[in-house]
Amino acid sequence: MVSDFTTVAQVQDIPPGTGRTVEIKGVWIAVFNIEGTFYAIDNACPHAGGPLGEGKLCGSVVECPWHGWKFNVVTGQRENNPNFEVPCCQVRVEGTHIQISLPPGLAAP
Ligand code: FES
Repeated sequence: MVSDFTTVAQVQDIPPGTGRTVEIKGVWIAVFNIEGTFYAIDNACPHAGGPLGEGKLCGSVVECPWHGWKFNVVTGQRENNPNFEVPCCQVRVEGTHIQISLPPGLAAP
């Protein structure tokens, strides 16, 4: 299957140590910059749907702003409980464009 990358932001829009929420094909995705490398996960926290893209990023871990569950944004796994995880997206940078490819589980039917 050919990957389908879409530009969601510019590199300068998301400084290192921060994240933001972007919309791609009707799906909300949380994008983070960890020391210049970008990672993207499903924005919806598996606890109760909190917006992970608005969470506080500490190293490679984001804390959900609603009830504090923590997720590794590189692996998508919940800290201390890998039974919970959020889907990860492929990310690439083309020039100044941050581009994301949705995994099949998140892509619209
Ligand atoms: S919705 Fe994320 S911790 Fe509750």
